[in-house]
Amino acid sequence: MPTLTRDALVAWGEAFGRELRAPRVVTLSGDLGAGKTTLVQAICRGFGVSDPVTSPTFALVHEYAGGAAPVYHLDLYRLRDWRDLLQLGWGDIVDAHALVLIEWPDRADGEIPADALRLTLAHVPGHDDVRELAIDG
Ligand SMILES: Nc1ncnc2c1ncn2[C@@H]1O[C@H](COP(=O)(O)OP(=O)(O)OP(=O)(O)O)[C@@H](O)[C@H]1O
Ligand SMILES: [Mg+2]
Repeated sequence: MPTLTRDALVAWGEAFGRELRAPRVVTLSGDLGAGKTTLVQAICRGFGVSDPVTSPTFALVHEYAGGAAPVYHLDLYRLRDWRDLLQLGWGDIVDAHALVLIEWPDRADGEIPADALRLTLAHVPGHDDVRELAIDG
């Protein structure tokens, strides 16, 4: 598993974002402060989003114009019940020809499409400036 500085993670995310094609669902797991939003911002830049990408903690979902397709950024940390996803327009989001980036996907359990690409970030004990990145799917 690679161990990445913030700069290295951002560079990886930008390159990864340049290669992504919609429709695609990418999930980002990891503890508070693991770097999920940092990575989302880098992926969005690579995908051609020019608007500033913020943390959607209060809105739960933000939509951006990507270079080739819309981008939906969801942060499900505060989701209490997966049925609340329907109110967020979940059906439209997964059916849109879009890039969908989801922080805290475990909050939505079985609702994440099986073909989602799963990224997991983890702190490295004793090393505050690096993170481990695991890629699955
Ligand atoms: N190697 C690294 N990769 C990513 N972030 C790092 C790294 N080293 C330090 N950091 C810092 O860790 C913080 C990560 O914050 P970020 O908001 O991206 O995390 P998050 O996983 O989205 O948290 P939350 O669960 O609260 O949404 C930032 O302050 C960032 O500068
Ligand atoms: Mg975040």
